[in-house]
Amino acid sequence: MAEIDLFSQLETFGQESLSALAAISDEAGLAQWRTARLGKASVVQQVFSRMKEASKEDRPKLGQAANKVRVALEEAYEARAEELRQQALQASLANDTLDITLPGRRPRQGRMHPAVQNINDILEVLSHMGFQVFRTPEVETDEYNFELLNIPHYHPARDMQDTFYTTNPNVVLRTHTSPGQIHSMRKFAPEPVRVALPGMCFRYEQISARHEIQFNQIELLAVGHNITFGDVKGTLEDFARRLFGENVRTRFRPSYFPFTEPSAEMDVECFLCGGKGCQMCKNSGWLEILGCGMIHPTVLQNGGYDPNEFSGWAAGMGPERITILRHYIDDIRNFWGNDIRFLEQF
Ligand code: DAH
Repeated sequence: MAEIDLFSQLETFGQESLSALAAISDEAGLAQWRTARLGKASVVQQVFSRMKEASKEDRPKLGQAANKVRVALEEAYEARAEELRQQALQASLANDTLDITLPGRRPRQGRMHPAVQNINDILEVLSHMGFQVFRTPEVETDEYNFELLNIPHYHPARDMQDTFYTTNPNVVLRTHTSPGQIHSMRKFAPEPVRVALPGMCFRYEQISARHEIQFNQIELLAVGHNITFGDVKGTLEDFARRLFGENVRTRFRPSYFPFTEPSAEMDVECFLCGGKGCQMCKNSGWLEILGCGMIHPTVLQNGGYDPNEFSGWAAGMGPERITILRHYIDDIRNFWGNDIRFLEQF
């Protein structure tokens, strides 16, 4: 009688335990279930201690039956615990906005604008050659932008540099960095000067692939004793070799600027065709990169130097033009167009 009792108790206990487990939905319930159904006081464990109540022949069967129930309950417990863990994860993924299991998103890193990169390259070369970088204003008076540079209001050279006038009479956006010559001479006279003046310039232009209403220039200025045209040529040829490479060929062509006398333009041999002639150099084999000359005595005087005692030279170049040549860029509008696909290439 006692054995039958134990067998049926075990069986009922097993079934009841499984259905109780299925109804559990949290961790605390799981822990309670585990103590009650698999702990020392549970029916399965008691069967082992009450083994002696069974007949000798039944004891092994009873042991086996109790073990079977125990193993079944342990397995069911593990399965239910895993199920609840998964449910909790799914619920937190659905409810929480932060999913810490996703890989992070890299922040986009910015970089220097190609025009600035090129200006920095040029200024580095010039600093090695002893030029000090000097900042001058982008908004100028008509006097600094034109008059003091020997361009009186009636001068035809003004036609090439029409500009933006502000609402203040005679205040303009500078059309070139040359007014910086006057600023630096007036700052340093009567000491000798050797400066590089970078910065933005503005002109009233019809915008096209070759013309923009804003662009950078770098002006060079050297004032001292016994400076000759040989210094202009020597310094600028050296500059071209340092910037474009040891073997670059250069040439000077006579030109005219009101603030220099004599004046010239410097070309470098076309990098694309090596001087044979191509579309880039318009079949000439040469690319123009700057204007230069000996500072006009009137301009030296306007800067505060006595032209009988001092002489000097000046040059002006367009770094965007040089960037175009170095990277074969076909449209100057790319520089200020803010198209990330262009900017990302540099
Ligand atoms: N300012 C001139 C321009 O914008 C460029 C230039 C030519 C500057 C000759 C100079 C120079 O200093 O000597 O067209």
